[in-house]
Amino acid sequence: MNAEVPGESRFVPAIRVRHLWHRYGAQDVLRDVNLEVRPGEIFGFIGPNGAGKTTTIRVMATLLEPMAGRVEVDGFDVSVDPERVRKVIGYMPDHAGVYDRITIREYLEFFAQAFGVPDLAVVDAALELTDLRNLQDRLVAALSKGMKQRLGLARILLHDPKILILDEPASDLDPRARIEIRDLLLELREIGKTIFLSSHILTELSDVCTSVGILERGRLLVAGPIAEISERLAEQRARDAYGVDRAVAPPAAEGTAEAEGGPAVGAEPSEPAGPSVTAGGAPVPGSARRRLKLRVLGDSRAVVPLLEGGAGIGVVEALPAGQLAVEYVGDDRFVADVVRYLVGRGVGVVAVEPERNELERIFLEVTKGELQ
Ligand SMILES: Nc1ncnc2c1ncn2[C@@H]1O[C@H](COP(=O)(O)OP(=O)(O)OP(=O)(O)O)[C@@H](O)[C@H]1O
Ligand SMILES: [Mg+2]
Repeated sequence: MNAEVPGESRFVPAIRVRHLWHRYGAQDVLRDVNLEVRPGEIFGFIGPNGAGKTTTIRVMATLLEPMAGRVEVDGFDVSVDPERVRKVIGYMPDHAGVYDRITIREYLEFFAQAFGVPDLAVVDAALELTDLRNLQDRLVAALSKGMKQRLGLARILLHDPKILILDEPASDLDPRARIEIRDLLLELREIGKTIFLSSHILTELSDVCTSVGILERGRLLVAGPIAEISERLAEQRARDAYGVDRAVAPPAAEGTAEAEGGPAVGAEPSEPAGPSVTAGGAPVPGSARRRLKLRVLGDSRAVVPLLEGGAGIGVVEALPAGQLAVEYVGDDRFVADVVRYLVGRGVGVVAVEPERNELERIFLEVTKGELQ
């Protein structure tokens, strides 16, 4: 049992895509896509319009033959065992049409029968899970987009698939409906489903994804848990910047001089003074430039001089409504030091957040904004 191929995983991945290529006419729309989704993940497949998300998904859902490469779902090859793949997946297309002139219950019962589900109790379970029980006698035509999307999810749950493949499940939804879908996805994960979803809106569902893959022009640029990608990119960035980019200094190193013209952030209560940004210390590998947004009581312009020139601090910008954008190099402890320092100076700090969510940062960093 120890005859494992190095680098191969011991478990059966929920989805495994290896060297997938696809072409429409003369246009390569998927170019050597490789990815793996582990059981229990919510995997966000992100990319701009035309990146190839739907094409990839259609291959996974056995609706399109891979031109080259191999795609396995729950260990079954989509080209060899499409029937078995269909049994383990619940696939929701991007523009699912629904029959309008029947009720929700009739709609689900129809599909349960079409799927050959022996016991119609599954309809009640699906209604319950998607919170549509109270609406079961409503005509499908009378549903809002968000409810229709929940109905779409209810439909693909009827045969109790292990893996849900959802193409843009939250596009066109208002914030409330989006939150409801997000909560539903979390609930589905709780009951053991693996979820693969595509999205071109980063913030849409990114906070529920355990891993993401970013696709651009048919190529997968990065994939993995957000924190891991982030770390990898930070290391890469630091390697690239080492000895070249002198704009931002690393976090304070002991024994170095305190920045002139401004207090070293983190100087309270101890004295970890370091080279100031303006002094132009050389970046060290592992240091990453980040941006932080603060909200303070009163006029944020008054806070700028307190931070500017501090060790590890880059550009500080006052924004409307008591907000400040602060560039810095450091980790979460550094941020805590900044807050402690400001509070110590009598500043009422009411909010601290990354300027962009992590995924947005990653996306902007790895994509070139190219469409195909
Ligand atoms: N049936 C088709 N025939 C020819 N070209 C196609 C076909 N389907 C898709 N394409 C092209 O393939 C590329 C990838 O399309 P795909 O629908 O997979 O992208 P997507 O990432 O899902 O985009 P979106 O965010 O708009 O849904 C696009 O350039 C598209 O125009
Ligand atoms: Mg699409």
